[in-house]
Amino acid sequence: MPGVLSSPVCLTVIWLLSWSLRLGRAQNQTDEASAVQYGHMQSNVTLACGKSQVSRTPMEEVEPSQGGSEEKDSMVPVTWRLDHSTVLPWHQVTSDGTLVLLHADHSAQGNYSCHDSRGLLLYFIRLRLGYPPGKLNVSCQVPNHTHVRCSWTERVKTFLPAEYNATFKGISQDQKPCVLDVAHKHCDVNHPSFWQTIHTLRITETNALGSETTSHRVTLYKQLQPNPPQSLMVEALKGHPKRLIVSWDYPVSWPLDDAFPLIFHIRYKPNGSMYWSEVLSLESPVVITDALAGHLHQVQIQARDDLISDSKWSEWSPLLLVRPWEAVYSTTESPEELQPEETFADNLFPFSTKPEISTPKSHNSVHPEDEGNLGFVILLVMLSVVILTIVLSLIFVVWVRQRRHDHITKQELTSMVKMKSMPI
Ligand SMILES: *[C@@H]1O[C@H](CO)[C@@H](O)[C@H](O)[C@H]1NC(C)=O
Ligand SMILES: *[C@@H]1O[C@H](CO)[C@@H](O)[C@H](O)[C@H]1NC(C)=O
Ligand SMILES: *[C@@H]1O[C@H](CO)[C@@H](O)[C@H](O)[C@H]1NC(C)=O
Ligand SMILES: *[C@@H]1O[C@H](CO)[C@@H](O)[C@H](O)[C@H]1NC(C)=O
Ligand SMILES: *[C@@H]1O[C@H](CO)[C@@H](O)[C@H](O)[C@H]1NC(C)=O
Ligand SMILES: *[C@@H]1O[C@H](CO)[C@@H](O)[C@H](O)[C@H]1NC(C)=O
Ligand SMILES: *[C@@H]1O[C@H](CO)[C@@H](O)[C@H](O)[C@H]1NC(C)=O
Repeated sequence: MPGVLSSPVCLTVIWLLSWSLRLGRAQNQTDEASAVQYGHMQSNVTLACGKSQVSRTPMEEVEPSQGGSEEKDSMVPVTWRLDHSTVLPWHQVTSDGTLVLLHADHSAQGNYSCHDSRGLLLYFIRLRLGYPPGKLNVSCQVPNHTHVRCSWTERVKTFLPAEYNATFKGISQDQKPCVLDVAHKHCDVNHPSFWQTIHTLRITETNALGSETTSHRVTLYKQLQPNPPQSLMVEALKGHPKRLIVSWDYPVSWPLDDAFPLIFHIRYKPNGSMYWSEVLSLESPVVITDALAGHLHQVQIQARDDLISDSKWSEWSPLLLVRPWEAVYSTTESPEELQPEETFADNLFPFSTKPEISTPKSHNSVHPEDEGNLGFVILLVMLSVVILTIVLSLIFVVWVRQRRHDHITKQELTSMVKMKSMPI
């Protein structure tokens, strides 16, 4: 193989190939094809016909007379093109062929090329315009005690690619890197010294036109905010038209550790109502006992570190819609249909103190609501008996008084008769 490669024929072929390639590109600066020059938007931008020029020449070099794309100096016969067109934005060309774009704006961006008098390409520049970085809007999220995520947005739109570096530092602590994810505009710190009150995130944005550092102070325990609880589930409880069982899981980003308890805040209301009812709980599940029978309910949950009351409540979990159990009077339910629900409720609510829930024949037993109905009927009956008694005794009293009255009038009459008959 080495013999073949070094053979004159092979060498000639290679030389011819590379020569034709160069010819095809018609330039001696093929590696400059990707040259990018960055310029400040709304300023004068200088493009040199060759890499020896610095990107900005002093303005004294600029020839005062405004020229077209044609060369002014016979010594340097150079023409400029933008994206293959000879129509250029407002500009000047200096005596040495340098192009100055005056007050360049978005439309001045593109691929510039300069050509000699025969139209041969001399140089190629891709021009991008923008602004130097400004301060960043930074906010930090603390989803647990071992993690900080800071995200940022630009206050100044730079239009240019940028690089970032970021550090995180407590008051009396060596700085830690904040590991960047530039695509998502955030950075992460693992295991910050949580109990130091104040930390400072220092983030530097650098682009072709400059660099700017933004400092952001974070009080970790005040920013501590768990993610919303997960797997929220709301179940009707068979036989209980006013009850709902609410269960959930810790957010995965929160350690399942007794040292970091969460407190949970559940809220619920009949769909369409304005007012939420609320329950606080340290453990799942919770049984709501005052649901509005027969109504669809909205249920949500949020969480907070139980020990740091200054910390933030999580966002609310997505709303769940659920209707409490309703008695079906029209059809007789078969026990096979009921069984799975009951065992499920039993599993969900293992510390239930109501044994009838777990017995298969629970639908035959008397439920509290049925007892309530029975009591109401008894009350009604008793009330009517009382009313009847009162009415009867009233009638009796009236009757007795009437009789006595009759008796008295009889007596009066007889006495009057007696008096009349008495001699005066
Ligand atoms: C300018 O040239 C670059 C390659 O250097 C190319 O990717 C880009 O599409 C060109 N832009 C225009 C407007 O022709
Ligand atoms: C740009 O160049 C023009 C003409 O030379 C000059 O009048 C103007 O002041 C310059 N603008 C800036 C921002 O340098
Ligand atoms: C291209 O190459 C020639 C010699 O190889 C050189 O004189 C010339 O300056 C080069 N062109 C540019 C724009 O640098
Ligand atoms: C940055 O934050 C400030 C106040 O905090 C706000 O007024 C401004 O609109 C924000 N800017 C951006 C680009 O988000
Ligand atoms: C971040 O970038 C700035 C500007 O380039 C530099 O001064 C600083 O030292 C950099 N910091 C780190 C930690 O690399
Ligand atoms: C803390 O939150 C981060 C980000 O969500 C996660 O990667 C990490 O595993 C969490 N740490 C613990 C102990 O749960
Ligand atoms: C819940 O109530 C809203 C009005 O508050 C109504 O638009 C919506 O249809 C109701 N949802 C259901 C499932 O009934």
